[in-house]
Amino acid sequence: MGNSQSSSLNYNARSIRRRRSVPILSGISLGCASAHSSVFSCDSSQEISHFSLGIDEKHKKYRDCSSEDHPSSQATLRSSNVAYVPAADSLGAGAATGYEQFLRDYPQYRLTWIVDSLRRSDYRRLSRLGETYVDYMGGSLYPESLIRVHTEFLSENILGNTHSVSNSSRLSQRSADEAREAILLFFKAPPEYTVVFTPNASGALKLVGESYPFTGGSNYVLCSDSHNSVHGIREFASRRSAQVVYIPSTHHGGFDANHAKTLLLRNRPRAKDAAPCLFALTGLSNITNSKTPLSIVEYASSLGYHTLLDAAALAATSPISLIETPVDAMAVSFYKMFGFPTGVGALVVKKSFLKQLKRPWFAGGTVDVVQVPGHVVTRSREIYEQFEDGTINYLTLPAVTDGLRFLSAYLPFLPMRLWCLTDFAVKALSRLRHESTGIPVVRILSRRPTNRVSAIGEQSETGSTISLIFSFPTGEMIPNSFVEYAASKKSISLRTGCMCNPGGAAAILGIEDHMEQLYPGVTLKDFEDVVGRELGVVRISLGLGSNFQDVWDVIQFASIMACEQSRNPLWDSWTEASGIGQAI
Ligand SMILES: Cc1ncc(COP(=O)(O)O)c(C=O)c1O
Repeated sequence: MGNSQSSSLNYNARSIRRRRSVPILSGISLGCASAHSSVFSCDSSQEISHFSLGIDEKHKKYRDCSSEDHPSSQATLRSSNVAYVPAADSLGAGAATGYEQFLRDYPQYRLTWIVDSLRRSDYRRLSRLGETYVDYMGGSLYPESLIRVHTEFLSENILGNTHSVSNSSRLSQRSADEAREAILLFFKAPPEYTVVFTPNASGALKLVGESYPFTGGSNYVLCSDSHNSVHGIREFASRRSAQVVYIPSTHHGGFDANHAKTLLLRNRPRAKDAAPCLFALTGLSNITNSKTPLSIVEYASSLGYHTLLDAAALAATSPISLIETPVDAMAVSFYKMFGFPTGVGALVVKKSFLKQLKRPWFAGGTVDVVQVPGHVVTRSREIYEQFEDGTINYLTLPAVTDGLRFLSAYLPFLPMRLWCLTDFAVKALSRLRHESTGIPVVRILSRRPTNRVSAIGEQSETGSTISLIFSFPTGEMIPNSFVEYAASKKSISLRTGCMCNPGGAAAILGIEDHMEQLYPGVTLKDFEDVVGRELGVVRISLGLGSNFQDVWDVIQFASIMACEQSRNPLWDSWTEASGIGQAI
């Protein structure tokens, strides 16, 4: 027999579901628990009690906060009220002067004061520990209140394995149901969608890859500027004799829309019942900073493709509506969105699409009846259960619900705020020159911010990632491994490398020809030997907790790289530590 409940018990379990709670304010009771703001009625003393009441009561408390308290409505009302400028007093001396000029150049940034307030309350640890965190693309930072509330909930409640009907199991089941509903609500998913919990976005992409009914005559169309977890699907496609078709990246990442349309048209399914074709697209590139215009989904669907959106990078800072972008399936990781929990992602997917997927195996949790020995297998009744192998990560799912509500409260501000910070950083970094030679200190390789974002609700055409390489006064590249070392010495968390996006990296580094020459068994070291330098970029990525000080710190760091006197001691200690190179 399988591991799921009998059908009558299933009925009971479902009957305790409560209706979807209104998400508008729930995040505020977390995020503004101790914010320096008087506009919110939910304070930190209420915070813990909300959660110790149990799920329904906890969320009733959320609903009790009136919608007038929503930060977006407050910001709109106060858009001309400069009393709400972000606090300059918390900035270092140099940054405070730079901040004044920044606010003159980007006056709209003032409208995002609520996020500065959040930074002071929920990301206090950054200033306490003196760390500049600019690796949001690697993982967002969790708000401290989310952790407090979640640990309190765990301490006050008893949660058991969902594959049972005890009180403790039902609470876990209810937490899972709530998380599913919160996810659907967050992405504005119409009723035809459901949620499959996965370990991460890669797990969600793999579920589609391994189950998609590729066959001879099928095409798997994807963009070069994609994460390896999207490229990896080609292994499933090729094994079943499907053709893999790449849409090339432009030199700045992303793709040319007309070229993409031509390739999609040329490789479309031949007839309604012909071999199925899958189009995978990346919402936001994690290295080139390119956003894919999601209108291409409509075009691909009209040609008969199934569409799979990798939203792992996009979802953290850009609202996604599955009403407007009705992809067949979308992959996300929650730690990328609000930092906690790791180990949980989701495939948000149309039920009709799930029905067309064929799982290569079954496991505990996915089946109702298994004949042993024998061949008979009856899959679980709920379609999403058929795709959730074993026990879901039930202990962390309440934090997914809360994290989504939290992010909902702040997400409206992020596109404009991050556009301002990214645009400022790109311009300031581009201006830096080596005094002795006039050579630029950095070369920005990723897409620069394009359309000016001036109002809350406007979206940016690019993300908040800056991929760059540093140069010596001679113009020669400063090794990324040294930059990473020096950054960590200066308490800056950034990332270097190709970011699991070889196509995007090759495009912006201009090494696509070398990439073509790769052979089976090649190592990264071999590849670097051929190109003649370290491969990869230095990546600065901003997100939910970013503020002006972070950007300022990065610019100061770049100035250190520009100055021989400050760079050389770091270089010497790096060469000593790593046993390579000579002081330059
Ligand atoms: C665009 C993109 N897709 C997919 C992934 C994979 O996400 P995860 O490692 O959470 O599975 C990442 C991770 O950085 C990403 O940036």
